[in-house]
Amino acid sequence: MKDVLSLKEMPAEAIWTVVKLAQDVKRNPERYASALAGRNLLMLFQKTSTRTRLSFELGVQELGGRAVVMDWNKSNFAISPIRYEARYVARHIHMIMARLLRHADVRELAASAPVPVINGCCERYHPTQALADLLTIYERTGTFDGVTIAYVGIHNNVANCLTAGATKVGAKVLLVTPEVNPASWDEELMQQAMATGRLEVTTDPAAVQRADFVYTDTWVDMEHFNDPAYQAEKERRLEVMLPYQVSRALLNGHEPYIMHDMPIHPGLEIAEDLIESERSIIYDQAENRLHAEKALMLYLMQAA
Ligand code: CP
Repeated sequence: MKDVLSLKEMPAEAIWTVVKLAQDVKRNPERYASALAGRNLLMLFQKTSTRTRLSFELGVQELGGRAVVMDWNKSNFAISPIRYEARYVARHIHMIMARLLRHADVRELAASAPVPVINGCCERYHPTQALADLLTIYERTGTFDGVTIAYVGIHNNVANCLTAGATKVGAKVLLVTPEVNPASWDEELMQQAMATGRLEVTTDPAAVQRADFVYTDTWVDMEHFNDPAYQAEKERRLEVMLPYQVSRALLNGHEPYIMHDMPIHPGLEIAEDLIESERSIIYDQAENRLHAEKALMLYLMQAA
């Protein structure tokens, strides 16, 4: 496997390998401190980031490698066919992490770059988030068998990779998703997940009371959140989605672990008191981006 563009294409065995390796990397970071010595990671961004930027940049450094961070729009990727720029950067770069707006561009980058490409979140998929999420769940349970994860919110890129990854490794996924981001929908991924017998889709908010983990995400993608042209759609979504806010009222006495991939919008997709509650594992999830991404880079570089 050269690239990781989504968890739809990633075999279950590879996901397991990365999750187990991430546990070892987290417990024994010194063991891997020079595993990527002499290797360079290019980080390309068309969109904003806190976690993806911090975790990949620190992660490759903690493995003995180097990171170069590039704003796509201040580079000549913005004005030339991707294939030429991709061919050139591979003269110096051993891996690329790209956070791009369009999955089509991530695919073109992967097709033309002779080095591994990791999708750092496009409109359809967020595979490194899902790998960190699986690590976080596995740390709590030691198994995926019999574990139910409810994703409550708008069906989006995060929902896609969580669904693909979790159903492959044996967890049950309950999608409580009254709305779908049209740009994110992947019929093939949903059919594959459904075929495992471990996916259920519902609009009933009370379904969260059957879950061990309740996960939510923004109702508006980051590139639209402060966009004046998107305000009418944002208002419409808030009205539809408020009954699905992850709150104590929604949980009705049930006490699942609470997950959110951040950035958080308190009072919208999640009630503020749950963010810092005893059942919240939100910061573990965010921290685990680092460990999961280190494992993924080791795996792709065949360096572990
Ligand atoms: N969850 C996540 O991808 O965070 P950033 O957008 O801050 O990178």
